[in-house]
Amino acid sequence: MSHGSASLRSKPNHIFMHNSKVSARTRRKLEQAAAKVMENAHAPYSKFRVGAAVLLTNGKIFSGCNVENASYGMTNCAERTAIFSAVAELGPKIEIEAVALTNDHGVACSPCGACRQVIYEFGPDATIFFLGKKGPKQAHITELLPEGFRLQ
Ligand code: THU
Repeated sequence: MSHGSASLRSKPNHIFMHNSKVSARTRRKLEQAAAKVMENAHAPYSKFRVGAAVLLTNGKIFSGCNVENASYGMTNCAERTAIFSAVAELGPKIEIEAVALTNDHGVACSPCGACRQVIYEFGPDATIFFLGKKGPKQAHITELLPEGFRLQ
């Protein structure tokens, strides 16, 4: 059998799944927090509610929902709402260990590009839990955002 890319591609998805330090219990707690805050979303335009919960390395959890605006571009995603409220409460030294995402359509939804960059700012080693096309998925932030931007 060849060890080229064809055989790699035929491997089941979980072989490539990033292994996080987050326990199954903590992951469930994060997902529950995301589902709860999703209820507060302001999404009258897209009708797509999103909830995000952020686990910090100090063990604290912050959550946030998407907040849309009649001027569509002013919309804030759930991930950024959660991260910005963590910074507002604890200051800029926060370190993100993991982020869980949920949406009210039960469809695949990974963090948008802008949110990946914001997660990377505070969590260059973060694990992201989200719903992929083939079901629940976890990925390291650098899998989602290779070569994220840093200001040197
Ligand atoms: N949205 C999020 O809140 N997070 C994501 O990761 C993807 C998209 C929101 C933005 C907008 O309010 C709605 O989902 C539809 O794009």
